[in-house]
Order: sequence, then structure tokens, then C-alpha cells
Amino acid sequence: MPAVVMVGAQWGDEGKGKVVDFYTRESDAVVRYQGGNNAGHTLVVGGEKKVLHLIPSGILHRGKTCFIANGVVIDPAVLFSEIDALKKQGYLKNDRQLRISDRAHVIFDYHRIMDAAQEKQSGKGAIGTTGRGIGPSYADKTARVGIRVAEFIDPVKFRERLEAILPVKADILGKIYGVSCPKAEEVVRTYAPFAERLKPYVEDTGVALSKLIDGNRRVLFEGAQGTMLDLDQGTYPYVTSSSTVAGGACTGSGIGPTAVDSVVGVTKAYTTRVGAGPFPTELPEGDPVGDHLSRTGNEFGATTGRRRRCGWLDMVVLRHSVRVNGLTGIVMTKLDVLKGLPELKVAVAYKLDGRKIDSPPASPIDLGRCVPVYKTFKGFSEETRNARKLKDLPKNARDYVEAVGKMVGVPIIMVSVGPDRDESIMLGDPFGCGRKPMRRGGKK
Ligand code: GDP
Ligand code: IMO
Ligand code: MG
Repeated sequence: MPAVVMVGAQWGDEGKGKVVDFYTRESDAVVRYQGGNNAGHTLVVGGEKKVLHLIPSGILHRGKTCFIANGVVIDPAVLFSEIDALKKQGYLKNDRQLRISDRAHVIFDYHRIMDAAQEKQSGKGAIGTTGRGIGPSYADKTARVGIRVAEFIDPVKFRERLEAILPVKADILGKIYGVSCPKAEEVVRTYAPFAERLKPYVEDTGVALSKLIDGNRRVLFEGAQGTMLDLDQGTYPYVTSSSTVAGGACTGSGIGPTAVDSVVGVTKAYTTRVGAGPFPTELPEGDPVGDHLSRTGNEFGATTGRRRRCGWLDMVVLRHSVRVNGLTGIVMTKLDVLKGLPELKVAVAYKLDGRKIDSPPASPIDLGRCVPVYKTFKGFSEETRNARKLKDLPKNARDYVEAVGKMVGVPIIMVSVGPDRDESIMLGDPFGCGRKPMRRGGKK
């Protein structure tokens, strides 16, 4: 049962797109199982850059099936603009390469209107969402007033569901937020052409995935966002609305936990976060190191273009990630960005009210008051982007990678030294890293 789940170990944008594209070579199928087009996954192949929001990052590899599973929320306009762009570039020649779950939920205009209205009303307490309607569509799913793909592609059911749901939505949007809600007629007019186009891609992806896994095919589950944005395990309420942790791969794709062999966490060599919420190791705008990370790492959101907040690597976050995901391997990205910094810091614990703690507190107010306890490492000024083996790295860079591996207590299976697919140092096999007995909960 060679199934690997790949998750973001921090606050998203860790480089999951690059890593998933890289490992697709060794996989038969790639699956997106949660989130929607709040994600922005960047792939760079031969210097050419592509950003994917909904379609799995394996799509550039011919013959590898890509699944959008039941846990995803799909904005059909975004989906088809991505499909059209890929086809124009010569990819996705066979529509069978992309399979979409009949149980995934659909994002409509009124979800985006609600997202904007809620953020506006929250004022200073706003989450800083991507504005893509993600929260409202997951809220509808949970409240059992969402529309699933199976109903969306059936014109009679689609209209029936809209007519039942929209009067309540219109009341909430109009009476509480003072904005208008599209009428069922308008929604049908806008979305019916998408529903028709969607039909050939739709199937019960849970059944298809089980067949692949039972047939011993290699399946790569591609997480979106990151562990600290998980609805339960993240920095609530400054999170997204889905289960970004490895467990989400099961509920979000219809496979059981016993099907998962290994779980790989992707982390940057430092930390970034987009949007509001506590971030203990943040180096705010104007801090020379924070500005170096932002500039050298080109830390601007792949979805909204917002400047990402930057800071030092945080072992409290990574250990939390190891625990809540059951990580069996780590990929470290963007090591090259640290080049030129005289010293490197890693938070090994926090101090809260004079007490040392080594796991993040639940309250965002408390997390915001945590003061990191840092361990300092020597920096490096040599180029790393041509390194293809650990021994090609400058000594101080290698020492940093090895020290992080020890502290996190999980083997580092890949180090990424540049955005391009080939700018990678392979150290282990993601499909194999779950089978070895592993020491958990590393040294502090
Ligand atoms: P994702 O959401 O986790 O897929 O990550 P994003 O694509 O949003 O952001 C990661 C950014 O870092 C993208 O611009 C990538 O091209 C880039 N990137 C990935 N790995 C590396 C790396 O090792 N070095 C550098 N310099 N850039 C990288
Ligand atoms: P990828 O997959 C980074 C953040 C938003 C906001 C919060 C809630 O590219 O790593 P939402 O629109 O989901 O309701 O916003 O989550 N966020 C991300 N941050 N990377 C992402 O995806 C994100 N998706 C959502 O900035 O703080
Ligand atoms: Mg991203």
C-alpha cells in the first residue's frame, strides 16, 4: 500500500508544489484532498514557472493521474481557467488524466461575497483570508447546505438545491451584511455551462483511489496550506477552514488511515506566514534579516500577491507538526535563501510568563505573548544552488541541516536549494521512509 501524504509543516507556502512535482516521477497518481483555490503551488521546470491553485501539482507529468478528491472545494471558473491554460501549453491532452470527485463541494459567487462581507465586518479582527470563498463554502458543507458536484451536474437537482438555499443566504447577506445575493436564476445562468463541462471529469474518486492502492500503485497525497492553518491543530481562529493535517487525507479522499504508509512534512529553512495571527519568530518588516528573507526568498503570495511575513525557523511548530501529522520524513526547502546571513537562529522553545514551554498554547493571545528561546548557528556565504549532494553544501549549511534534522527527530529526505525541479538534494525515499522504525520527538 504505497501511499504517501505530503503536508505543509508550517503556515503554508513551504514549497509543496515543487516537492510534489519532483516526486510525481516516482508516483502513479497525485491527489488534492482539501482546500481550494486559496492554495497557490508553484512549479518551476527548466526555468519556466507555473502556479496551480486547484489542479494537483503532478499534472505536468504525462500518464500520471491527478485526482481532486471529496475534501476539496471547487470554484468551477478557476478550475476551467486552469484546465484551459494547461491545455494551451500542451498538458492535459487526455481528459482522463484529471478525475474529480462527485462528493467535492462547489464554491459559488455568494461564498465569495460572504467571505468579503465577513472580513469587512471583522475589521481589525479580520483573518486576512484569500477572499476566495473558502470559509463560507466549508461552513455550508458542515451546515449541510452545500452543493456537491453530483448535484451540481444534475440540472434539476442543482436548481432545486439553489432554490432551497438561496432565500436564507439572501436574508443573511442582505439583513446582516447589507450586501445583495445573486438570485437562483442568475447562479444557474453563470454556472450551468461549467456544470456541463465538468461531467466528463466526474467519478467516485474514492473507489478509483482504493483500486490503485489495493493494486500496489504509488499514490501521492498533496496537502494544501499547512499544519498551523489546520482548523483544529492550527492557530485558531487564524486558520483556514479545512483539515490540512495528514488525517485530512483520509476524510478528504475516502481512504482509511491504514492505507497510508508514510507522511512527509515540507518546511522552509525559515518560516513565513500570510494573513493575520500570531507568529512568535517573526522578524517584522524593517528588520534586516526579515527583509533579507523576504527579498531573497521572493516571499510574496502565489495566490494574492501579498507580502509574506518572515521569521526564523521554529522548532516548537515543527515538533507540533511531527506529532499531529505523524511525520516520518521531512523535506527542507529554500536553504539557498539563508546564504549571506552571518548567523542563523532556530527557536527551540518558548517562554510564556517566565515558564519554558515546548508546544504551542491553544489561545492565540497566549501564543502571541510567547517569546522564542533561540539557538544560534553559524551562517554561510557560499552558493548552494548547484549542490546535488549533502557534501556539496558549505559546511555551515550542512551543519544547520543536520542540526535541524536532529532537533526535529525525523529524517530529512530532501533538501531543496532552488525553485527549479532539479535544484534538489535527494536523501531518502518518501515511499520508503514510513517503514523504518523511527525515533520520535527529537532533542530540544
Ligand atoms: P506551496 O504553496 O507550498 O506550493 O509553495 P508556494 O509555491 O506558494 O511558495 C513557495 C515559493 O518558493 C515558490 O515561489 C517556489 O518556486 C519557491 N521555492 C520552492 N523551493 C525553493 C527553494 O528551494 N529555493 C528557492 N529559492 N525557492 C524555492
Ligand atoms: P498553500 O497551499 C499560505 C491563509 C490566508 C489566511 C488564512 C485563511 O499555497 O500553502 P482562507 O482564504 O483559506 O479562508 O484564509 O489562511 N492561507 C494560506 N497561507 N498558503 C496557503 O496555501 C494558504 N491558504 C490560505 O492567508 O491567513
Ligand atoms: Mg502557496
